[in-house]
Amino acid sequence: MKAIRIGIVTVSDRASRGEYEDKGGPAIREYLSNVLTSPFEHIDRVIPDERPVIEETLRELCTREKCCLVITTGGTGPALRDVTPEATEAVCEKMMPGFGELMRKVSLEKVPTAILSRQTAGICGQALIVNLPGQPRAIQECLDAVFPAIPYCIDLLEGPFLTTDETRIKAFRPRK
Ligand code: MTE
Repeated sequence: MKAIRIGIVTVSDRASRGEYEDKGGPAIREYLSNVLTSPFEHIDRVIPDERPVIEETLRELCTREKCCLVITTGGTGPALRDVTPEATEAVCEKMMPGFGELMRKVSLEKVPTAILSRQTAGICGQALIVNLPGQPRAIQECLDAVFPAIPYCIDLLEGPFLTTDETRIKAFRPRK
């Protein structure tokens, strides 16, 4: 059985300089530990809002580190330094716009500023990359919406079989 390796990337100038504690990365880790019933390893990175660094990190996690899923947090807004969606697009062969559309839809029910997030998702090699906004509370809001489709997306990429705690998230697999 293939190991489940998941990349967790915090994109933040200040967190990468140690000016504040990274809250997003740990929140993603906690979310995955609560939702996934299959054992997984996480590979964590905290990096600045520099497009070449984000691209190199995403490529490294998707290829050398063999992650089947890479979740980023931060850098999705309109601020001058926000470039996570551009870096994601640059490394992906295919974009998966439905992820951003759904996450913005559910986030809008919580905050009107959800439209400020340009978060997207795409396929890099055999990995799915999903962007989340930097707000720690956005992590659960967004992942709850898209997670039911993630295990099947990874099946289609011929990755490992992800199982979830169905009381939290029911993975939807249309073809059994
Ligand atoms: N989505 C959810 N679910 N919850 C939030 O609090 N904050 C918004 C938006 N999306 C938010 C959200 C805000 S205020 C901004 S500026 C954008 O995400 C972009 O955030 P980022 O630049 O930290 O990625």
